[in-house]
Amino acid sequence: MHDPERHTMATPPHDAELIILANQTLGKIEGRLWGQFIELAGRCINGGIYDPDSPHARPDGTRADVFEAMRELQPTHIRYPGGCATAYFDWQELVGPREQRPRNKLFRGLGQSQSTAFGIPEAYGYAKELGAELYLTVNAHTQSPEDAANLVEYLNGTGPTKYADLRRSHGREEPYNVKLFGLGNEIYGDWQPGQKTAAEYVAWCRRAIQEMKLVDPAIDIVCVGLGRPGPEWDRIVLKGLIDRIDMISVHNYCGRPVFRDCMAAFRVYEEMFNWLDVAVDEAMDTLLTRKKRPGFAFDEWNVWYRSKHGPVADLEETYDYADAMTVASLFHVMLRNTRSVTLSNISLAVNTCGSIFTDKMRCVRQTIFYPQKLFRAKHSGRAVRTVVECPQFAAKHERFFCGIVDVEKAKDENLPTLLKFDDVPALDVMTSIDEKRGRMSISVLNKLEEHPLRTALTFRGVKPNMQRVKVHRMTGNSIAAVNTLDSPNNVGLETQTTDLDGAFTFPPASLTLLEFTL
Ligand code: AHR
Repeated sequence: MHDPERHTMATPPHDAELIILANQTLGKIEGRLWGQFIELAGRCINGGIYDPDSPHARPDGTRADVFEAMRELQPTHIRYPGGCATAYFDWQELVGPREQRPRNKLFRGLGQSQSTAFGIPEAYGYAKELGAELYLTVNAHTQSPEDAANLVEYLNGTGPTKYADLRRSHGREEPYNVKLFGLGNEIYGDWQPGQKTAAEYVAWCRRAIQEMKLVDPAIDIVCVGLGRPGPEWDRIVLKGLIDRIDMISVHNYCGRPVFRDCMAAFRVYEEMFNWLDVAVDEAMDTLLTRKKRPGFAFDEWNVWYRSKHGPVADLEETYDYADAMTVASLFHVMLRNTRSVTLSNISLAVNTCGSIFTDKMRCVRQTIFYPQKLFRAKHSGRAVRTVVECPQFAAKHERFFCGIVDVEKAKDENLPTLLKFDDVPALDVMTSIDEKRGRMSISVLNKLEEHPLRTALTFRGVKPNMQRVKVHRMTGNSIAAVNTLDSPNNVGLETQTTDLDGAFTFPPASLTLLEFTL
């Protein structure tokens, strides 16, 4: 919960103070927290990851340069095939010999067509090569619960049964052992074929989960949540499914054309998690038997407010330095909430809201790639509480899905959907301690555009080595800096080593990660 008393002015000569409380663990940083999302939409897979016509294509049609960039992010899991694409594909169209699959599927709403060549076996192979788990979304929109169970049998069945035999006839004897399934995507929305009411969705899921788990009891199930304070969707879905699900998913996209406002987006996400905590607890109270509390699958989030859906350049954003700071700040929220968040993946990996951007010949790591790479490498172990004393500022932000707000309309300061915050802390901090690696990492965003903050570092319950501290920082000479195919290195990462005297000056509009040995 946000506590305004924790954010006051520090005493001179410092502008701010961080008090690291090493004995107060917020949650563990383990498991499915660093996923990527690859969707059969836009140019994410077709024309991005999978591009047989590119000079960078490997024999299987996937691009070597894109794969190398993906590998740098060390994803824990890969979500596939959607997104909205979930509702357009029957799973049977995404398996078997390519020449027997439909050549293209039309997404009526977007006027896009997508090749089925990169299907489930291809996505499985791609994830495996990355050392990641495949997270499959199931078409709960236009397919039946029986179809969902048949898919599990196809993937994981070991006996001489119809769908396991179908897999064998496709040349794969051993089971795939896919263990993670999401049931539908944003199925509450009218932008989805097969939109359902919460009650219809609960009925579909109860039947599907029962049948899917009869085939393989070891699978994990994610259901669709909304995460928006107030409405009945989450209450109905959670009460109806609390005894059967392992996770509930929430999505959100953010951003505004004003730097200060983008720096407040994390408060919206905090509210979303606070709300969901209450909703899950309420549903748990209705259970008569003991069951593990479902986690949150934060499986679509990113900056998205400029680009639009369409048949060409679908959701293709050029991310700037400010967007990378926003993404870092959202990672902080996720990492501070790992008691509840048990799965997270930014949306998406390539081209469509992509961290990686391509044309036929080239591939660039966008600005938002770098906080992901840094945090994946340096935050591990456990998240610990940090008291932050610092200046505050006022800002405002949409509560939900900025991507669907018209950019012109977003300039209206009095939009009723805007939340107003007058106490956004200038420093946004996340501390992790990994005893096994003997490491403490403190990542800090200075959200003031003009002012450096000389910050005292106080440690309780831990004595880090103040010599040879590694200072990692995101480079870039302005909040508007972008990496493009023509100019790919304006924003990146840089590391220096220094001795600290108990304080550090965080430059204006910056992301810094201090890495201490313990
Ligand atoms: O990220 C792009 C789209 O946004 C996804 O397909 C959908 O789930 C969301 O609305």
